[in-house]
Amino acid sequence: MLASIANMASYRLAELTPDNIGEALRLEVGPGQDTFVASVADSLAHAYVSPSAWPRLVYDGDAVVGFVMANFEPYHEIEELQCGIWRLLVAAHAQGRGVGRFAVEAVATEARRRGQSRITVLWVPGEGGPQDFYERMGFTITGKLFGQVVGAKQI
Ligand SMILES: CC(C)(COP(=O)(O)OP(=O)(O)OC[C@H]1O[C@@H](n2cnc3c(N)ncnc32)[C@H](O)[C@@H]1OP(=O)(O)O)[C@@H](O)C(=O)NCCC(=O)NCCS
Repeated sequence: MLASIANMASYRLAELTPDNIGEALRLEVGPGQDTFVASVADSLAHAYVSPSAWPRLVYDGDAVVGFVMANFEPYHEIEELQCGIWRLLVAAHAQGRGVGRFAVEAVATEARRRGQSRITVLWVPGEGGPQDFYERMGFTITGKLFGQVVGAKQI
């Protein structure tokens, strides 16, 4: 816990730009993990047509190490989709160093800035999936939606 929190100090968020899009598209998760998250390219295609999407890169120094996309749509008819993490992935070589924790905190900070007090996330259940990570981050399972597990966290 202390190690991953200490590492977080060196991470920062950045918007996608023509300069970093190439590096963003080369982000790769570990073997088998692509079962649990769509590619950055897929996420950015959704962001292109979704004004409520909030895609950001995580940098460690000059290197892109992660991608997170939130959705902020307070009037969405499905409550679980109003405010939370839509996509999150950390490069295989950078996992286990607090990048994911940093990304969750960054989404929480942005949600609070928008006046929200709770964030949600949906994940695919299964061996090797992110459930233990999200529970570690303080999400509580609240149900299921579209065959995925829903987690919520007060912020
Ligand atoms: C899930 C994922 C985002 C976690 O990112 P990460 O940078 O490796 O996680 P962190 O290093 O920030 O871990 C934070 C804490 O969660 C714990 N944790 C992370 N992954 C875990 C796992 N699979 N099982 C148990 N604990 C885990 C860490 O041990 C750490 O605990 P600590 O604070 O007590 O040290 C990353 O593994 C990933 O990109 N997976 C593939 C894509 C994916 O599943 N995305 C989620 C889609 S909904």
